[in-house]
Amino acid sequence: MAPSLFRTVVIACSSLSLAVAISPGFPYGNEKVRGVNLGGWLVLEPWITPSLFDNTGNSAIVDEYTFCQMQDRAIAQSVLEAHWNSWITESDFEAIADAGLNHVRLPIGYWAFEVGPGEPYISGQLPYLQKAVTWAGNHGLKVIVDLHGAPGSQNGFDNSGQRMDYPTWHSNDTNVARTDVIIKTIADMFKDNPGVVPIIAPLNEPAGFDGSNVLSVVRQYWRDSYGNIRYPYGSSQQSDTVVLIHDAFQPLNYWNGFLTTADNNAQGVAMDTHIYQMFSDSGVAMSDDEHIQSACGQKSTLSGFDLWLIVGEWTPAMTDCATYLNGRGIGSRYDGSYSGSTAVGSCTGLTGSASSFSSSYKTFLRKSWEAQAITFEAAGAGWIQWTWKAENADEWTYQAGLMNGWIPQNPTSYEYPNICD
Ligand SMILES: *[C@@H]1O[C@H](CO)[C@@H](O)[C@H](O)[C@H]1NC(C)=O
Repeated sequence: MAPSLFRTVVIACSSLSLAVAISPGFPYGNEKVRGVNLGGWLVLEPWITPSLFDNTGNSAIVDEYTFCQMQDRAIAQSVLEAHWNSWITESDFEAIADAGLNHVRLPIGYWAFEVGPGEPYISGQLPYLQKAVTWAGNHGLKVIVDLHGAPGSQNGFDNSGQRMDYPTWHSNDTNVARTDVIIKTIADMFKDNPGVVPIIAPLNEPAGFDGSNVLSVVRQYWRDSYGNIRYPYGSSQQSDTVVLIHDAFQPLNYWNGFLTTADNNAQGVAMDTHIYQMFSDSGVAMSDDEHIQSACGQKSTLSGFDLWLIVGEWTPAMTDCATYLNGRGIGSRYDGSYSGSTAVGSCTGLTGSASSFSSSYKTFLRKSWEAQAITFEAAGAGWIQWTWKAENADEWTYQAGLMNGWIPQNPTSYEYPNICD
């Protein structure tokens, strides 16, 4: 009888789709992601390595684009190569693994893959990406390859490679098409190594705050990236690589249902959200207790989302005091040196070397760290702190937190386990 035959076929199809379901290289959703970003290595950030920018003697050099454009090219090249060789080495991977972490997120710019006519970028980062994956494998760490800068800039932030008032990635089809090709390249590089590179982030922080013109491009780009990352062998065979999309600064409910199994049976998709409390006047004006409450309050905001939810950037720091954090030549809201801001207090003792931090400040950093780690584990699939190291902003770095006692040697050994209760 036709109806029962039809039912049999449907059952056969659904068990077939179970049989080919993704088997990720890390048990997302069952084990918590605990990780750290390797910021400021393969993509320069002025606040992470201010010396590289100060040494140019040119205050117009504010990002990697102008770093390559506005000084002698041979000098720029040799400074970059020395930096790539020294900023992160295998011993960092060893220390990260020893700290009980299981992931690193590795930002890389499009210019590592190709540079268009007229673009000043210097490439040469790919051998370091390959080394990073080897080192991660040696120490049992998983790598999130994170495309942090796209042609035209996806957000205008200096950490996209090019600081600009209004980003131009989304408004130019050529830029988007070039980015699609790079994601295909990244997916192809790592498709047979999901045990070390289980997950690819196709674009960091696209500027959804600029409105629906950006968001419609981002939505299509996530769908295209899903195809590029999950089907690198062609349409008949899936990879085991997970796709880590970013919320584009939208509330999570904006993304309800997007690339879930209910959406054309999409599988192997995780959502990245970034949580910072210092990039607004009201944020820097909060008291220590209010910062902790705000961190704990994220539990209700983040809980119950339908994709694996990873807080892919956050920090125990709660001021914008770090030099160049808001951009080279731009001050801090906290001390009122940012144009239009009202001072909350002095930045002295709140940024720089931990040797200048009071014991009460270090205690606050510990509470801030624990409140967030506890909340992000309770509400989602885990967390990745920004960032592993910085030249002179210890309040931000995992490395300094470990060395100076506000980050536990084992990431679940809390001193304040009930801080959010
Ligand atoms: C679009 O971007 C490409 C580089 O990706 C550039 O060559 C081209 O001039 C841009 N088009 C417009 C209209 O800006």
